Amino acid sequence: MKPILVSGIQPSGRLHIGNYLGALKNFVDLQDSDEYQCYFFIADLHSLTEPFDPKEKQRQILNLTADFLAAGIDPKKSTIFLQSQVPAHSELMWILNTITSMGELLRMTQLKDKAPETIKQIKELIAKNMSDLEAIAIREDINETQMNLTNVGLFDYPVLMTADILLYGANIVPVGDDQLQHLELTRSLARKFNTRFGKTFIEPKGLLTKTPRVMSLKNPEKKMSKSQPESCLFIDDDPEDIRQKIARATTDSGSEIIYDPETKHGLSNLLDICAAITGKEVSMTVREFSGKNYSEFKNQLAKIVSDHFAAFREKKKKLLASDKKLKTILSAGSKKAADVADKKMADVKNKIGIAL
Ligand code: ADP
Ligand code: TRP
Repeated sequence: MKPILVSGIQPSGRLHIGNYLGALKNFVDLQDSDEYQCYFFIADLHSLTEPFDPKEKQRQILNLTADFLAAGIDPKKSTIFLQSQVPAHSELMWILNTITSMGELLRMTQLKDKAPETIKQIKELIAKNMSDLEAIAIREDINETQMNLTNVGLFDYPVLMTADILLYGANIVPVGDDQLQHLELTRSLARKFNTRFGKTFIEPKGLLTKTPRVMSLKNPEKKMSKSQPESCLFIDDDPEDIRQKIARATTDSGSEIIYDPETKHGLSNLLDICAAITGKEVSMTVREFSGKNYSEFKNQLAKIVSDHFAAFREKKKKLLASDKKLKTILSAGSKKAADVADKKMADVKNKIGIAL
């Protein structure tokens, strides 16, 4: 049997070139290598942890489904599904919650990035032995607004992710490097469950691309992120937008094309993007552009990026013309996924003694 591969993306906004080079492109390459049994899903339950408009959510789900398909994920080769259509994800999450410590979740960097104040306050309270939630609420030194703004889903996010992965017996999880800490938790929870209840889960490994952290165009010391749309190159941007965004991307005041991620963040990021898209080594990319100035390089890169996504843009437009087809693909994939996930749930319930 082929090793199993699982990964998901949240339907929370347009995909940028970081999502593509860190994750989606790799999904397609791994699928096409024919070496894995692949599951790719739309992590809609995860996306509920960020503010959203219910009228927009289905559009975001279908849009991401079209991204998957237009990029080359093929429902004949891979199982493509919608997380919320497979109830086992939420069910296993609850069971895993009961073997997860608060401490493990408080350490997660993503949570610290998304709710820094809340984490600080909770930690201070724990330090003062104030673990009782009622006591937390009445303490004067708590900024209640911050605490109330942070939903519990954000805290529990990595446990749902663990359930996503363990249900399918994944060996490999292709992601960007911001997700590696979550995978560490996944392995730790799998181990904990196996030790306590008997061998049930596989400990998966993360798989990174050569560009596991594409940097922001405006602020190349930070990672490109959907939460800062002005710093993103979106994969369905039209050629003129691509040209303008790359032309305005922050680079240093030098003129020579040199790869040095320590001192030339912006330029090195653009060289990384260029190499990843053309499939060439960075050293070769640098050689190709040696003697050119920054603006010549940026112009060429804009053309390389626009050409690379030309077929993608066309396919995506066609796919979005039929919501029905997209929904049928997701429903069929979700049924297949649920068959696998339900078997694992039956085993889990049996192991912990709640099966009748
Ligand atoms: P974002 O962080 O932009 O909100 P998601 O959390 O939906 O995006 O991430 C989807 C996938 O894309 C994950 O595997 C994540 O690790 C990867 N990813 C996100 N941002 C980047 C980036 N700047 N560079 C490389 N990979 C990234
Ligand atoms: N947390 C991931 C992200 O923000 C998305 C995700 C949810 C995921 N469940 C997953 C990725 C399971 C890999 C495997 O990008």
